[in-house]
Amino acid sequence: MGYTYHLPKERDPLGCNYIEWETEVIDFMEYRKNMKILVATEKPFAKKALDGITEILQAAGYEVALLEKYTEKEQLIEAVKDVDGLIVRSDKVTAEVIEAAEQLKIVVRAGAGFDNVDLEAASARDIVVMNTPGQNSNAVAELALAMMIYMSRNRFTPGTGMELLGKTVGIHAYGNVGRLVARKAKALGMNVIAYDPFVTDNALFENDGVEQVGTIEELYAGSDFLSLHIPATDATRKSIGYKLMMSMPKGATLVNTARKEVIDEIGLEAAMTERTDLKYVTDIAPDDVATMTAMFGNRFFATPKKMGAETAEANINAGLAAARQIVGYFEKGECRFQVNKKPCGCK
Ligand SMILES: NC(=O)c1ccc[n+]([C@@H]2O[C@H](COP(=O)([O-])OP(=O)(O)OC[C@H]3O[C@@H](n4cnc5c(N)ncnc54)[C@H](O)[C@@H]3O)[C@@H](O)[C@H]2O)c1
Repeated sequence: MGYTYHLPKERDPLGCNYIEWETEVIDFMEYRKNMKILVATEKPFAKKALDGITEILQAAGYEVALLEKYTEKEQLIEAVKDVDGLIVRSDKVTAEVIEAAEQLKIVVRAGAGFDNVDLEAASARDIVVMNTPGQNSNAVAELALAMMIYMSRNRFTPGTGMELLGKTVGIHAYGNVGRLVARKAKALGMNVIAYDPFVTDNALFENDGVEQVGTIEELYAGSDFLSLHIPATDATRKSIGYKLMMSMPKGATLVNTARKEVIDEIGLEAAMTERTDLKYVTDIAPDDVATMTAMFGNRFFATPKKMGAETAEANINAGLAAARQIVGYFEKGECRFQVNKKPCGCK
C-alpha cells in the first residue's frame, strides 16, 4: 500500500516549524520490512522479556538485532549504524552514538530515568526519545521499603534495631515511584509527608492520606526516613547535601533509589561525620563508595550494582512497553511518552 509522506526538508531555527517540505510516496509494508530495531543492553533483559520484545517487533514486520553484555562503547557505535529504532536500558546513548546511527528515528529507554540519552543530540536530528514510565515503579518502591528495614535492623547484624511503625517517611518527589512508596509505607503504619512542587492536584496526596509540605526544608526536617525520587536535572544535581542532612531528626536515614547525581557527596560525608546518628542507603553507589564504606560502617550501604528495577516483572513490563511504543510510533505516530522536543506530526 502506498502512503504519501511529507518529509521535512528545512526547518526554522526555533524548532518544530518546518518551512520547506518534500513529498514522497512510500510503500509502507515494503518500507517496514527493511526496518531494523536494535535491542542494545549492556545489562541484558530477562529472557522472557527479550522473547516478548522480539515477538512484538517481528509480528509488526521489523527485523530485530541484539547487542548484549557489550563492554566497549565502540561496539554500540558499530551496532547502531544501520538501525531505525533502538531499545536500551541504562546504556549510554551519547552524541557519538547518535551521530553514528544515520538512520535512527526513535530511541526508547526501557525504564524511567532517561539521563543516559543525549536528548539535545537526538532532538537536533529529529529523533524521538521515549521512556516507559511506571513500568518498573513497583520494583523500585519495594526496594526503597526494603532498604528502610535493612538499615533500621543494623543491616541484619546483631544489635537493637528500630521499627518503621509510627515513624515519618518523607517522599521527595511524588511521581510513579514516590506514590507507591507512600502507599506501602502507609500500609506499614508510617506517617507519610511529601514534597513535589510539580504535582498540582492536591487530591492525589489527600487520597493517599499523605500530608503535602510546602518546602524541601520542611520535608527533611520532619522525616525519620527520607525517600528520594527526584530525577537528575540541572535543578536537582548535587541538591541534597550538608544542610538538608543536618536538618533531619536524630537517627534519620536517607534512602536513595533515584540517582547518585542528585547527591552532593562532599556535603553528605561532612554531615554524616558530624552527626554519627545519620544513615545513608543507596541503590546507586556514590563515586566515593570505598571511602564512605570505610568511614561510616553500618550507617552506610550501597547496592553493589543498581538493582531497583531488577525484578523479572519490571524487566518484562518495561521491555514489552518499549517494543509496543516503537510499533505505536511507526504505525500511528504515537509519542505519548516522548521526553524530548516533539517533531512535527507527532501525536
Ligand atoms: N534504582 C533504579 O533502578 C531506578 C529505577 C527506576 C527509576 N529510578 C529513578 O527514580 C526516580 C523517580 O522515578 P519515577 O518513575 O517516580 O519518575 P516520575 O517521572 O514518575 O516522577 C518524578 C517526579 O519528580 C518530580 N520532580 C521533578 N523535579 C523535582 C524537583 N526539583 N523537586 C521535587 N520534585 C521534582 C516530578 O514532578 C515527578 O512527580 C528517577 O530519578 C529515576 O531515574 C531508579
